[in-house]
Amino acid sequence: MLVGENAYQTVWMEGQVVKMIDQNALPFEFRIHDCPTYWDSCMAITDMTVRGAGAIGAAAAFAMAQAFLEAPETDHMVFIDDARDEIEGTRPTARNLFYAVEKVYAAGQISAENAKIEAQRIALQDIEDSRAIGKFGNKLIKNKAKILTHCNAGWLAFVDYGTALSPIYTAKKEGKEIFVYVDETRPRSQGARLTAWELMQEGVPFTIIPDNAAASLMQQGKVDLIIVGADRIARNGDVANKIGTLGRAILAHTFGIPFYVAAPTSTIDTACKSGKEIVIEERSQDEVLYQDGIDANGNKVRVMVCAPGSTAYNPAFDVTPARYITGIITEKGIIKAHHQSITSLFNEINHERTESLS
Ligand code: MRU
Repeated sequence: MLVGENAYQTVWMEGQVVKMIDQNALPFEFRIHDCPTYWDSCMAITDMTVRGAGAIGAAAAFAMAQAFLEAPETDHMVFIDDARDEIEGTRPTARNLFYAVEKVYAAGQISAENAKIEAQRIALQDIEDSRAIGKFGNKLIKNKAKILTHCNAGWLAFVDYGTALSPIYTAKKEGKEIFVYVDETRPRSQGARLTAWELMQEGVPFTIIPDNAAASLMQQGKVDLIIVGADRIARNGDVANKIGTLGRAILAHTFGIPFYVAAPTSTIDTACKSGKEIVIEERSQDEVLYQDGIDANGNKVRVMVCAPGSTAYNPAFDVTPARYITGIITEKGIIKAHHQSITSLFNEINHERTESLS
């Protein structure tokens, strides 16, 4: 992705240091955050300096590699196993984090250098998958389409390109005229802060809408297509994504609007039978009670936006049942959100893997 004149990835590793775009500073300030140790990387995932399923998957992969590189000779595996627990304890919902840690942990049994190579491979795969999702998803976008998206499943949520936004970038490159409605996505406002910033960098026309305006827009026929991302997809096609996604899906169903989920196969958890088994992260009530921004002089401010003394409930994700999903855009193509399609896709992937090993 280009920021100004410079090409960036959302997260990467240089030597033993994990580097990332600081997403808590955006959109007001663009800066790079350094994580010299696996522990710093854990902190960055927890406080959402890096966020979004693919980006935290890559950050977790790098953190696991850092742990192998940092582990002392005595109690080597105790250190690494503790680190793995800490990395896996940072955020519970995104499948990519657990997928990445498992792979790097296995690779590290050969050597610390091998763990790092595997982490780099996972980050590269994330880029390739996102690019392919763009290509497949673009086929769904007609010229002059008005597309609604929720939260941020763009390049900031992955290593590059993104998922829900990747088809939009491909369509734009092909010269299609498109317009994006960006859900604000309270309480952390990933739509208003991050998706809006990304679309601006890419020159895609958009407007931010308050979360509660979506129903009315759909009712008026102003939305042709909805594309969202995913944090974890169960074997039956149920999808966990940013809180509010379920409402969009039910509305899309009511108004006959195609509702697509864009995600790499690394987000699909075949061990998870249905959405009921997905652990939903609950975050601090402060994210609801306060808002961070800048004042007229550009100084950072935090303001209370509720009746003082209130409490708040803040689940970060919801689960959309498969029946509301028109299709899942993966790096292998667009599939139906149901058990059979997911099983046959994974049979194909396993078959390809066996072929390439023989
Ligand atoms: O809590 P976040 O910002 O890490 O949430 C993850 C997400 O960005 C969304 O749920 C997104 O739509 C899917 S992840 C690409």
